[in-house]
Amino acid sequence: MPTETVYGLAANAWDRTAVAKIFAAKSRPATNPLIVHLAGSERLSDALQWPPPPVIRQQIDALAALWPGPLTIVGPRGPKIPDEVTAGKTTVAVRIPAHPVARRLLQACPFPLAAPSANRSTYISPTLAEHVCDASGLGHAVALVIDGGPCAHGVESTILLLGDHPRLLRPGSITAEQLAERLQVAVEELQRQPPAGDSNRDALLAPGMLREHYAPATPLVLLPLAGDRDAAPPAGPDIGRIAFQRLAPHEAARYRRVETLSDNGDLEAVARHLFAALRRLDAAGLRAIHCDTCSPQGLGQAIMDRLRRAAARTE
Ligand code: TXA
Ligand code: MG
Repeated sequence: MPTETVYGLAANAWDRTAVAKIFAAKSRPATNPLIVHLAGSERLSDALQWPPPPVIRQQIDALAALWPGPLTIVGPRGPKIPDEVTAGKTTVAVRIPAHPVARRLLQACPFPLAAPSANRSTYISPTLAEHVCDASGLGHAVALVIDGGPCAHGVESTILLLGDHPRLLRPGSITAEQLAERLQVAVEELQRQPPAGDSNRDALLAPGMLREHYAPATPLVLLPLAGDRDAAPPAGPDIGRIAFQRLAPHEAARYRRVETLSDNGDLEAVARHLFAALRRLDAAGLRAIHCDTCSPQGLGQAIMDRLRRAAARTE
């Protein structure tokens, strides 16, 4: 199904047999839990423990204005959600997507939809319907793809762990600053190694984002920020380039292929077009892909998070 972030591979979240098919289609490790998608906040009790503890209730109310939209919350799991969805955890990840087709689909279903991104495990998330079924996608493993057009945001939802110390588990287009402002408390960033004795340690260690790479097969090299271009690796006739804004013709000519994500470096456009550009260059038989970077502020935090993961095999 289309969503405003990336395409999702959906199944009835209350049906463990259906959910098992998601893991099989994606070759996803059973230890990596899924996000449960709901039609609206009046259905939160379909997935979360209800009523939730008061601090979580207050946080949900404080965040309600961001829904529907690209924000996933992690809170105490309700009794209808099977272990398969949460990888046995006592928490569940929940989101209310804004895409009109996803909303219609969720309204038509008498159950919530568990849906990870509709890519093979560890490959790049799909932002076009054809990404789901093309050679690097899920192919015949899915029965139906609903084409809802290109995804508006292009990076996966922000994930926030609710509780006494809310934590950003994955940056996205809803920024840590926006969340902290609404919650009136600091939002801690996920540490790759949560300290021993951290009461959230178990919640943080299990999920896949600590190790997932979402990487292209072609080596990806991140270029230093503009201004430090002397440190950049040399271009060449077998190198592809992802440019955040239009390149001067003489610079573009040094690469075999250039993907330009925006006219002037607008980060919303960069995020929207990034995954499709990575997929196109990955299919072009290049020796390496050189990619622009940005400072990890606001939406730049999500963009750099995905790029660092995609480049992790190369570095
Ligand atoms: O934008 C999105 O969120 C897309 C669309 C389809 O909604 N979905 C998506 O799902 O990105 P997926 O499975 O690719 O990423 C879900 C992330 C994983 O990193 C998983 O570990 C984390 O959510 N997650 C799920 N349940 C969790 C839980 N109970 N505690 C902590 N993390 C959890
Ligand atoms: Mg994913």
